[in-house]
Amino acid sequence: MADSRAAVVVAIDTSSDMLACAVARVDSRAGASGVEILAVRDHACRRRANVELVDTVAAALSDAGCSAVDVDGYLVGRGPGSFTGVRIGISTAKGLARGANAPLYGASTLDAVAWSAWHAGVRGKLGVAADAMRGEVYPALYELDESGAARLFERERVVKAAAAVEEWRALPDVDELQICGDGLVRYGKLFEDTGLMARVLPRELWWPSGEGLLLAWTAAGGVDVDVPCDPALVLPVYTRLSDAEENERRRLGLAESATVETTGVADDLAGRHLQFRPMGAADAEAAAALDAVCFTEEAHEPWTPGMFLSELAADVPAPRSWWVAHDNGELIGMAGGMVVDQDLQVLDVVVSPEHRRRGIARKLLAHVSYDAQILGCTTASLEVETGNDPAERLYAALGFERTGVRRGYYGPGADAVVMTASLPLVLPVDAESPEPTAAVARTWPLPEPVRTAEERAELDRRQLVLAIESSCDETAVAIIDAVGTILANQVSTSIDFHARFGGVVPEIASRKHVEAIVGTVDAALEEAAGALGLSGGAIAPSELAAVGVTQGPGLVGALVVGVAFAKGFAFAARLPLIAVNHLEGHLYANLLANPDLEPPFIFTLVSGGHTMLVHVRAWGDYQVLGETLDDAVGEAFDKVAKALGLGYPGGPIISRLAEDGDSKAIEFPRAMMHSHDYRFSLSGLKTAVVQYIDQETAAGRTIHLPDLAASFEAAVFDVQFKKAWDALRQTGATEYCLGGGVAANPHLRELLVRKLGRRGVHVTLPPQNACTDNAAMIAEVARRKFREGDFAPFSMDADPNMTL
Ligand code: KG4
Ligand code: ZN
Repeated sequence: MADSRAAVVVAIDTSSDMLACAVARVDSRAGASGVEILAVRDHACRRRANVELVDTVAAALSDAGCSAVDVDGYLVGRGPGSFTGVRIGISTAKGLARGANAPLYGASTLDAVAWSAWHAGVRGKLGVAADAMRGEVYPALYELDESGAARLFERERVVKAAAAVEEWRALPDVDELQICGDGLVRYGKLFEDTGLMARVLPRELWWPSGEGLLLAWTAAGGVDVDVPCDPALVLPVYTRLSDAEENERRRLGLAESATVETTGVADDLAGRHLQFRPMGAADAEAAAALDAVCFTEEAHEPWTPGMFLSELAADVPAPRSWWVAHDNGELIGMAGGMVVDQDLQVLDVVVSPEHRRRGIARKLLAHVSYDAQILGCTTASLEVETGNDPAERLYAALGFERTGVRRGYYGPGADAVVMTASLPLVLPVDAESPEPTAAVARTWPLPEPVRTAEERAELDRRQLVLAIESSCDETAVAIIDAVGTILANQVSTSIDFHARFGGVVPEIASRKHVEAIVGTVDAALEEAAGALGLSGGAIAPSELAAVGVTQGPGLVGALVVGVAFAKGFAFAARLPLIAVNHLEGHLYANLLANPDLEPPFIFTLVSGGHTMLVHVRAWGDYQVLGETLDDAVGEAFDKVAKALGLGYPGGPIISRLAEDGDSKAIEFPRAMMHSHDYRFSLSGLKTAVVQYIDQETAAGRTIHLPDLAASFEAAVFDVQFKKAWDALRQTGATEYCLGGGVAANPHLRELLVRKLGRRGVHVTLPPQNACTDNAAMIAEVARRKFREGDFAPFSMDADPNMTL
């Protein structure tokens, strides 16, 4: 920013039913009086924030007499509020800031409500009760005087509306309390009926405003405050873990013994893969035993089982997070910490000696620190005994820095080094990337790339299209050039976070997308620069030709992140926006292997959400011959794996098991094989597998997992082949192709190539790495749409139910 005294800032907040948007010239050194509002576009906007936000920003900028290039920074309300609403605001803001290479600031939505009231002249004690749905509110107390709205609380929390009433009723000066907040829409009567002696502010002061957000931010320091303004680091204010995680903790804290139901995995089968999950009561003994083994090298007294149990109790004063790593049914590592103010104090990190150097400590810490962050922490701190260099190196790689020394902490002469890191720790926690990326905070905004005239001409000629995919649990970004060369293909998956639930948890997937999107885009922009041999820096948004994004189908909370980000990014970088159908992406993945593929042909789509047999008569002309009546093929793999306690996703695990199995060992039903149509049914097969397991277990026989897996696969794939061949014969097509996550299955690939090839059909298969969700396939669709000038308006929204 050339002059931080007079920065043009766009403020947005979509955490509630108010779409708050204002443009201001801000001199943050002048406090509240330094905010000069240039335009205001606040308006009620129920559930349509993603449709209206970018156009509203455009309108506000135009009201203010400026355009995207004049913006010095963006400011976003980080909630708390509606989860999807907060995500839309933050994702759009990240896109705007990344696309403009401008700073992104965040402020609390509750503060914005308080400051709006302050601006309207309200003084004295103010209670804000923002709606948190399901009978709950986010309560926040402020003291408003001439100088502004001061917070009387530490961090945002969520409580039952009735509990908020009780808390406020107990205030000594309750008769002077004034209340507002959109929680009053739903719970206003409750606040009245319980005799809370407070004055309710006029309804127009119940919601955040763009101006309130700007005032709150300026009061907190504005542009001059020392907080990161890198869009990668701005995250929603969360007040609790996802429901799935909360319930899991409750179950794990109670369970006497771990079962598939409580842990998501059968521990005796978990040897197939390393498992991470929150510590449960059933782990206490093993945890204490492991601590004792490592005690000789660790400087603290070993923990007893009772100590672990009390850590897990629901009523500990400071929130805790403890994670364990399991391998072969054995507890091999654990880490834990407690939340004190906004700091995660790491209590213990232990990995059994024979399992070191596999990145386990790092992953455990990543999980613990992630929980802490969700619970409001901004930093993590820990102590290392001086001289324990390997440990200090590990922590340094995670971004911890020495911040002090505690003399004699571990006994006379044994000092502790205190190390502190800011959250999030910069590391990927997915299965694909065991190594952390460099944990160095970058300076933001980034330097503009340096290009020669030839390089610029080359970039113009290449017409690079950046594509984003976020429909399920992978955040993926690819960059493609005009002739279809994939120059970057990045995938950041949150699979590790879903595995123990036996399926994707939508709320976790959505949160992970918000965290990963900027980093994944950046990695793609860097990868493409490398692929093009450009040494002057990563591709800048303005060097792209267009932005494509998956519009649907998929999980709505996941899709909106990619869509909102893409729209903000395209608007700020002044690029056309392209909407892509995810299912078309799976089809076009075939073009990455065979660019000459031309309709007509038969296409089988087998993914986690879809099972379809399609007659592709021409590009864009799809005749869906049949679909599944119940579960999708990938879903059947996932459900069987879950029933066996093998974790998620089931496809890769089952196909690995099937390698060594006999596909004829067990006779499973081939549903709808002879139905003389193109419909499929898979739910019965799962039941048959479960019945088989029960029957064998009851008979005292051990189950041969490889045979089971191979027989299950054969039952699924025989039907797929039969119907594909029928469709080929019936339509007269001689070309066939495949797509979707299950297309990665080597047995299905081999079977189709062999059996259809023998019958004279030309078979195309997508590259193995373009079967499960990825952005390369989205980029290929976007590239073709770009060529045709098929662009989407900024009012485009995610469509979870899109079909072919
Ligand atoms: O296409 P995809 O990544 O996501 C959706 O759009 O649904 O497909 C994911 C599905 C999961 O159900 C997963 O178990 C399955 O693809 N899958 C496989 C294999 N790899 C992934 N199924 C069978 N064999 C595999 N090797
Ligand atoms: Zn997919």
